[in-house]
Amino acid sequence: MSAVLAETEWSSKTARPDVAVVLLGAGKVGGAFLQLLRTQAGANLRLVGVANSRRQQTRPEALAVRRLRERLDAAGEARDDKALLQALHASDAPRKVIIDATASCDLAACHPEWLARGCHVVTANKALAGGALPGWHALQAARTPGRLYGDSATVGAGLPAIATLRRLHACGDRIVRIEGVFSGSFSYLFNHYDGRQPFSTLLREACALGYTEPDPRADLSGEDVARKLLILARTAGFPLERTAVEVEGLVPASLRGVPRDEFLARLDELDAPLAARNASAMVHGRVLRYLARFEADGIARVGLAEVDATHPAAHLLGADNLFAFTSARYAQRPLVIQGAGAGPEVTAQALLGDVLALG
Ligand SMILES: NC(=O)c1ccc[n+]([C@@H]2O[C@H](COP(=O)([O-])OP(=O)(O)OC[C@H]3O[C@@H](n4cnc5c(N)ncnc54)[C@H](OP(=O)(O)O)[C@@H]3O)[C@@H](O)[C@H]2O)c1
Repeated sequence: MSAVLAETEWSSKTARPDVAVVLLGAGKVGGAFLQLLRTQAGANLRLVGVANSRRQQTRPEALAVRRLRERLDAAGEARDDKALLQALHASDAPRKVIIDATASCDLAACHPEWLARGCHVVTANKALAGGALPGWHALQAARTPGRLYGDSATVGAGLPAIATLRRLHACGDRIVRIEGVFSGSFSYLFNHYDGRQPFSTLLREACALGYTEPDPRADLSGEDVARKLLILARTAGFPLERTAVEVEGLVPASLRGVPRDEFLARLDELDAPLAARNASAMVHGRVLRYLARFEADGIARVGLAEVDATHPAAHLLGADNLFAFTSARYAQRPLVIQGAGAGPEVTAQALLGDVLALG
């Protein structure tokens, strides 16, 4: 095969696609989604636009090249949401989808408007559904029959947590408790932390393995877990404000405002407080886990908890997530969902799965 063919191989398979796609975000998840588009599973989709925060691309011949993500900055056009929407509406595909694979609050705020303009929206970005309550209500108002809002990737990287809860709620089951480990980085850290090595050593390991954000304070603050708990509680029929969730972050006040490099150089300041928490858990025959918990009678908390050996979170492996739903009909034992809850490939698959659900 010639080099030119290899470069443009992608364009040949979608002469008359059913679904036109604009992809916002070409980072880890967006990059994995672009890879998926090149497989048979993406054969019915036509990419008509892609963007990162600085540049975008809408020219079909440029979108067809391999290494599109890498070339975006060098060969892309200036960022302009309007031009991306125009490219989408100019497509003759009967279904038009905007995929948000960013963490941008500004873009998330546009989701209701995009739905109102006739697009389907599929998102890994939880800033709207897990943000301030008026944003959640605006989203519910914009969710009309025939307009898909694909949110599977916002919680559990596509584990069927939201879909399950939505089904229970729609069937009239009364959700009593939502509990679990909703963060791959916290899961990895506390599945491995037993006090024999400093917490900071494990954290450095987790950073090197790509289990944390480049600035691990984004994970350690607990805010991301709080957003996921809000999405789940709201989906279950409890329209909670962020202020209703008590969040225990693991970053000491003295390290919150310092530059990232200084934070990374001072990680060992996390060690003593966590060693004390771990020693206390061990005295009680328990282990530490970073849990999210919502109780229908009002408790919503995200933070460290001591759990005993019978708790499902005590047996988690790797960076797995765990979601346990107790309801009127799942009253004796919770309905439990467990598995990889982070990672670009499973998250991109969740995005594609939502798009394919359009039929
Ligand atoms: N990584 C995971 O395992 C995982 C799992 C579940 C959910 N998620 C969620 O998925 C989303 C993406 O995560 P990621 O890991 O792929 O992050 P990432 O690697 O940091 O990529 C984010 C991308 O969004 C782009 N972006 C930011 N603002 C934008 C804007 N206004 N317009 C267009 N593009 C914009 C960034 O562009 P620049 O490169 O120009 O900054 C970058 O390409 C986040 O909401 C995250 O919480 C991630």
